[in-house]
Amino acid sequence: MKKVTKSGCHTLKPRLGRGQSVFFFALLAIILLSVAFVGCRREPPKTPSAATANYHVDWPTARGSELYSFYCLACHGPAGRGDGFNARNLATPPRDFQDRRRMAELPDQRLAAAIRSGGEAAGLNAEMPAWGSSLKDLEIDYLVAYLRSLEQVPAKR
Ligand code: HEC
Repeated sequence: MKKVTKSGCHTLKPRLGRGQSVFFFALLAIILLSVAFVGCRREPPKTPSAATANYHVDWPTARGSELYSFYCLACHGPAGRGDGFNARNLATPPRDFQDRRRMAELPDQRLAAAIRSGGEAAGLNAEMPAWGSSLKDLEIDYLVAYLRSLEQVPAKR
């Protein structure tokens, strides 16, 4: 077996010169300081902005809102009132999701089932597509949370 000599160990020492290690530690210090600085800047603002002042939007609702804008807005409209730009091409206009009284008749499971399996399976117009193969169950739950949040929008009628 090869004997590890003292000098052999010495060759394993990092080959950084003095100037290089100073540079290395300075770089490390800069990185750590900038991480700390970014951390400080991420602190929530002390006064709520106009957008968040009136109500709190939880994570499922926020994610549901994103999914809604991407998949549903065209037919259901920007605020869920059934007035999307594609709504005029539909035989049955989608319901107004802001209509609290009508929405109260529909349990979450019923909304989720309509989203997952589509209008036809839910006994509605087949123009409502089935999203079960594009969206995960969790994403459908987020969408339901978002639809429920629309009922909270103050009436503008
Ligand atoms: C191509 C147009 C279109 C798109 C896109 C669409 N929908 Fe619909 N949706 C409809 C129509 C039309 C109806 C109404 C069917 C009826 O009442 O017979 C409907 C009905 C529904 C219903 C059932 C409400 C009830 O009355 O029971 C829900 C819930 C719903 N849509 C959610 C969504 C969600 C969430 C998305 C996006 C993932 C979406 N829709 C995308 C057209 C669409």
